[in-house]
Amino acid sequence: MELPYPRLYLRMAIYIGATLAAFVLVGAAILALIASYELEGYVATRHGTLGREAAEILAMGGRPALQQWLAEEARIPPDVSVFILDQASQDIFGRQLPGEFANFVRNYVVTPADMTESNYRPLRLAPQLVGPDGQVYSFLVLPKTIGVRGSLSTLLGLITVALLVIGSVAWLIASRFGRPIGELQAAVRQLASGHIDARVPVAISSRRDELGALAADFNSMADQLQSLIDSREQLMQEMSHELRSPLARLQASLALAAHHQKLGDAEREQIEREVRHIDQTIGEMLRFSRLDAPATVAHRLIRVGKLLRELVEVEEIEARAHGCRLELTSQPDMQVIGDPDLLCSGFENILRNAIRYAPVDSCVELKVRKEEASIIVQISDRGPGIPDQYLDRIFEPFFRVKNSVADASGSGLGLAIAQRAFDIQGGSISATPRAGGGITFTIRLPAADLT
Ligand SMILES: Nc1ncnc2c1ncn2[C@@H]1O[C@H](COP(=O)(O)OP(=O)(O)O)[C@@H](O)[C@H]1O
Ligand SMILES: [Mg+2]
Repeated sequence: MELPYPRLYLRMAIYIGATLAAFVLVGAAILALIASYELEGYVATRHGTLGREAAEILAMGGRPALQQWLAEEARIPPDVSVFILDQASQDIFGRQLPGEFANFVRNYVVTPADMTESNYRPLRLAPQLVGPDGQVYSFLVLPKTIGVRGSLSTLLGLITVALLVIGSVAWLIASRFGRPIGELQAAVRQLASGHIDARVPVAISSRRDELGALAADFNSMADQLQSLIDSREQLMQEMSHELRSPLARLQASLALAAHHQKLGDAEREQIEREVRHIDQTIGEMLRFSRLDAPATVAHRLIRVGKLLRELVEVEEIEARAHGCRLELTSQPDMQVIGDPDLLCSGFENILRNAIRYAPVDSCVELKVRKEEASIIVQISDRGPGIPDQYLDRIFEPFFRVKNSVADASGSGLGLAIAQRAFDIQGGSISATPRAGGGITFTIRLPAADLT
């Protein structure tokens, strides 16, 4: 079965795309949450009244008062540090700025001294406090948990999200692809170890992707194997049964001969007949089983009319012995591509049956015509015909209609061989009752396309 596009890859792509999207969404949300939480205190402090308070203290009491004010840590929120830097970037307590901030602060927070004279005053990232002595201080609020390279908690948060997303997608992929593959493998192993009834569950074989197609293919392969094995077994049984009856009759004749202490003409004839029958059955058996897997099938252009004319010439003698006539009518140029021997053996089996069942003075008709892209051959006789319920079954190996005239002769394989021979060439055969009595066998073969 051809799939319009590789669904498995599409699914993978969807999963991976969904993973990335989920990661980006959840990651961004977590990041925003953590950052807003962390920045809350910092922003509150920066925009709060702390700076103004410090400016007032400085205006009233100068640097010592400011130092004292800053020393009372209680007024400063716990998640921020407040530095007050003079124009040399020194904290009024002489505290060291966190290493990664030092440069940043020097460049963007505390304006270099000579810059104050310039008419270009770059943006300062901190408010300035001016003391009564004209000293300028920078009032710097730094978040404690966030560094220049981000915060530890956002990093941990992101890693956790990544692990969660990767874990759940890995689980999803394992359950979506791993489990069906495991089931498929189990079924293959079971089949290989001889459990011919092993099948992949429908839940998997009905998936609409390559795995589902593979499972369905496996199941239909197993079905076919099973029916093949079953039909072989049945064939073996029928064949054994078929060979047993003539052997039993042989035994009876031999016992009779032993009883009379000599082989009479009747017994000898019986023995010869049974041996011939066994020989013929075995021969047809071999022919039939060889058709199962034909090693070589020729592909030759065959004129069906000509092939049937030759066959009719050969069978004419047999027909005359039965007191019936053969009549062939064929349209010109009836050509098929196939194996002449196979086709011939198929037609021969049908024609021989017809001759066998045809009443004295009747006519067996062979007609060849073309219908659309098919060549149709019909072989009809005026014999006893075949009851409707057996019209399909007569093509089964060893099947014979009960009480049929010539029961003892023939192996019961002729029609099975014919059906398989036509089947191999892409054709078909069917039997239909004939108005006015008798039966018509219709063989349909693909016409040779010579364009
Ligand atoms: N032309 C026919 N008219 C009536 N019955 C037929 C005809 N051809 C076949 N049959 C029935 O189909 C059965 C199977 O035919 P076949 O496979 O050729 O086996 P066989 O000829 O060895 O008996 C025959 O035994 C017979 O009962
Ligand atoms: Mg036959």
